[in-house]
Amino acid sequence: MASKEELKQQILALVEEYYRSVHERPAFVPGKTRITYSGRVFDDREMTQLVSSSLDFWLTAGPYARKLEAGLALFFGSDDFILVNSGSSANLLMVATLCAKGLEGPLPPLRPGDEILTPAVTFPTTLTPILHNGLVPLFVDCEVGTYNVDPALVEAALGPRTRALMIPHTLGNPCDMAAIVDLARRNDLWLLEDGCDALGATFDGRLVGTFGALSSVSFYPAHQMTMGEGGGVAVNEPAVKKTLVSLRDWGRDCWCEPGKSNTCGKRFAWQSGDLPFGYDHKYIYSNLGYNLKITDMQAAIGLAQLEKLPSFVDRRRRNFGRMLAGLRPLEERLILPVVHPLANPSPFGFPMTVRQQGLRAELIRHLEAAKIETRLVFGGNILRQPGFQGIPCRVHGTLANSDRIMNDTLFVGIYPGITDEMVDYMVERIHAFFKDR
Ligand SMILES: Cc1ncc(COP(=O)(O)O)c(C=O)c1O
Repeated sequence: MASKEELKQQILALVEEYYRSVHERPAFVPGKTRITYSGRVFDDREMTQLVSSSLDFWLTAGPYARKLEAGLALFFGSDDFILVNSGSSANLLMVATLCAKGLEGPLPPLRPGDEILTPAVTFPTTLTPILHNGLVPLFVDCEVGTYNVDPALVEAALGPRTRALMIPHTLGNPCDMAAIVDLARRNDLWLLEDGCDALGATFDGRLVGTFGALSSVSFYPAHQMTMGEGGGVAVNEPAVKKTLVSLRDWGRDCWCEPGKSNTCGKRFAWQSGDLPFGYDHKYIYSNLGYNLKITDMQAAIGLAQLEKLPSFVDRRRRNFGRMLAGLRPLEERLILPVVHPLANPSPFGFPMTVRQQGLRAELIRHLEAAKIETRLVFGGNILRQPGFQGIPCRVHGTLANSDRIMNDTLFVGIYPGITDEMVDYMVERIHAFFKDR
């Protein structure tokens, strides 16, 4: 009879063989192979990790999740990294943490009616947690080219109720974080970064996600590394960690790891709220929480991806640079991406804005017919989305650029599954589009 370890090794060897026979990529055929805007890039390592964790059958966040949290905290150089089940959950958790009444931190918790400044061009779940927590979004316009907020506009927009900034780094392009951090400090504002698109990007040599008190990450397949569904929060303000973890884990007061009891050493000796003395600490709730945890299987995949993250980011940068160089001659027709001199993006996609209004639909048709997938910059001007019309908010100035981005901007893929040949084909097809126009 084979030992447990021998059986496991046999299964994992079969998984490797399965990967090679089923998942290895077919060769690229221009005009025939679809160039997707994103995709999972993985090999047998992710599959064997996943199977390994499923054989352990821990299921809930366990040894793999703890290792991944430690790995990501190290990657960011943050005080902690807390895994959750999506980037949207990470944003929810960050905002809910700032609103928790027992929050301890350098600034007071947010109260209903307080404003959080955020750009109008955004992803929906960057905004919804703000609304769900009774806060008022304060919208500013975005720049065409960087697709980010302009710090001068942010400063001008601040009002007496503005207490926080929620700053996304759109499509992996870092905002001017020197200016943003400075104005947040001078105005006593909480700073949250939505770093979901920007894992690995830097500003002035420092990783995006390390500037805010908290910063979110997404591990959805389109992002710099994936575990299917998944996300997390880099914690740079240690005082808020306890509340953040409590909110992730049902709002409980207890901080035991799954499967553990009595970490506090006085499980049956707490006096809290109006509960009887000695009420089991496992069932004492000090926050209005959620369950946003991941499974250990997701974390197992994430561990394999984290090892490859630097090479993934390098490949994205290389593809982005090649595309930019190839499209430079079209600058009179397209607004090409603009990057702050101190920023080094971890590109999520390659955005471009057609200078001639109304031409985007034709360009999209042309590219899709050539088997090149396109995407828009998420919700465009989010205030024009059906679900967001009439929301309580304050708008600073005009949102003319946001409307322009909504109408004229698109992006194509540059993820690590895209080769030089594919980039060159996309460049050639875009040149062909403008040739006779
Ligand atoms: C800027 C931004 N924030 C948040 C999210 C949400 O992440 P998830 O899809 O993991 O919920 C996304 C998703 O792409 C995003 O682009």
